[in-house]
Amino acid sequence: MTNKYMYFIANWKMYGNLSSVNTLNKVIEFSKSKEINKGRLIYCPPYTLIGSFLKKFKNCQIDIGAQNCHESESYGPYTGFVNSYMLKNIGANYVIIGHSENRDKDENNKLINLKIKSALKAKLKVIFCIGETLAEKRKKKTQSILSKQIKVGLDKVKNKSNIFIAYEPIWAIGTGIVPKSKDLLKTIKFIKSKFKDKSPKVLYGGSVNPQNIKNLKKINNIDGFLIGGASQNAKKFIDIVKKTYS
Ligand code: PGA
Repeated sequence: MTNKYMYFIANWKMYGNLSSVNTLNKVIEFSKSKEINKGRLIYCPPYTLIGSFLKKFKNCQIDIGAQNCHESESYGPYTGFVNSYMLKNIGANYVIIGHSENRDKDENNKLINLKIKSALKAKLKVIFCIGETLAEKRKKKTQSILSKQIKVGLDKVKNKSNIFIAYEPIWAIGTGIVPKSKDLLKTIKFIKSKFKDKSPKVLYGGSVNPQNIKNLKKINNIDGFLIGGASQNAKKFIDIVKKTYS
């Protein structure tokens, strides 16, 4: 049982159409119940559904984020992209930046840093993803990889109060495998130790589901979860939150 204020962020990735919005009724109902009075629910749907989600969540406390943004603060000839101001303008409050599925498509730490700075200027809260590959873990490079991602990604970011770090080991994303509790505790502690003053909140992401949440919630330095696959199913997402608090 935890009494901590926790963040539950649903990352829908490239999933969903207009009829998926109806599956959110259960989550809306749940968000109004006492069971979730100590936590925050945030949905990050694909761009195409942000407007519909905002309408749907109008009278409840569920927040909305996007899954990426362009680094340019002004409009420009960037076919297929949207920037942080456009996201803020339609009502998003959060944005995921640095997800490994985008790092995989040539997003490097420097570009991620530009994106983070533009998002903060637009007054978005940033869910900044970091994590090592399996090969890096095997070579015991986890800490040096995370250090670099944090150092470059947050370069010249003075005020970190709107940053959330999501530790997502790449080998745990979508694989059903989660790190050992003692390793996760240690890594989250290491991430927090990188900040002299107050550390940003640190979330865990990678195969979180209604079964493994019972162990994950015991890791007391985790401030919440970034949930991919399981969040696409309302019942599973609610179960994860419920089990965190039961
Ligand atoms: P997963 O994805 O929960 O499906 O592993 C997490 C993420 O990529 O954010």
